[in-house]
Amino acid sequence: MSRRRQVYEGKAKVLYEGPEPGTLIQYFKDDATAFNNQKKGVITGKGVLNNRISEYLMIKLGEVGIPTHFIRRVNMREQLIKEVEIIPIEVVVRNVAAGSIAQRFKLEEGTPLPRSIVEYYYKSDELGDPMVTEEHITAFGWATYQEIDEILNLALRINDFLSGLFTGIGLRLIDFKVEFGRLWEDEDMRIVLADEISPDNCRLWDARTNEKLDKDRFRRDLGNVQEAYAEIARRLGILPEA
Ligand code: C5P
Repeated sequence: MSRRRQVYEGKAKVLYEGPEPGTLIQYFKDDATAFNNQKKGVITGKGVLNNRISEYLMIKLGEVGIPTHFIRRVNMREQLIKEVEIIPIEVVVRNVAAGSIAQRFKLEEGTPLPRSIVEYYYKSDELGDPMVTEEHITAFGWATYQEIDEILNLALRINDFLSGLFTGIGLRLIDFKVEFGRLWEDEDMRIVLADEISPDNCRLWDARTNEKLDKDRFRRDLGNVQEAYAEIARRLGILPEA
């Protein structure tokens, strides 16, 4: 059996060449890292859950008109995606103070923000993903002003839709990180949602108890990490096949 060509390996995922030109296979690992790789671990079953959760959310977002790289899930740990040129910016949308914004401005975790706040971070392990502004992004040529406008617009629409979806299943979407890519079709280029949306890159709290049901359980050694991810999948109605 011929081994597929690996095109990229990240902390939580591997990308392989897809069956057709312009496609890739995205494989979800159980590996978890935090604090820019300083903390490493394995959350058994995380890859299977994130593959399912991300599939579900990408399909739902697609249905409301958010373009995504997602094509279809192919098995428990893999999905077929469109190959895109990743824009090297992590886009964080925050609704409630938690994590780094709570630290930076000495806000109590759980304090609702006056309005949703969008932040950009330059994707660089070496630099520790520094926060950047539109000025840095455009001056260094990571994206154009027009692309940033589109990214901001998409990020806010994603936030609106996901906030409502999670509210409906008793969860608060505190914040999340998304990535975008350029999808080339003939001469046309579109910005599409890429990477994944899962409890690895969202903060999700139980609406009644404020229990954390996301990667903060790993970051902060709260235990029951896999159980929290499974709870998100259960509430979405998509617990993976046995
Ligand atoms: O740590 P911080 O508060 O800045 O994280 C904001 C949001 O972005 C959290 O939901 C976190 O899971 C996500 N994030 C991420 N990848 C990073 C940094 C943050 O998914 N490298």
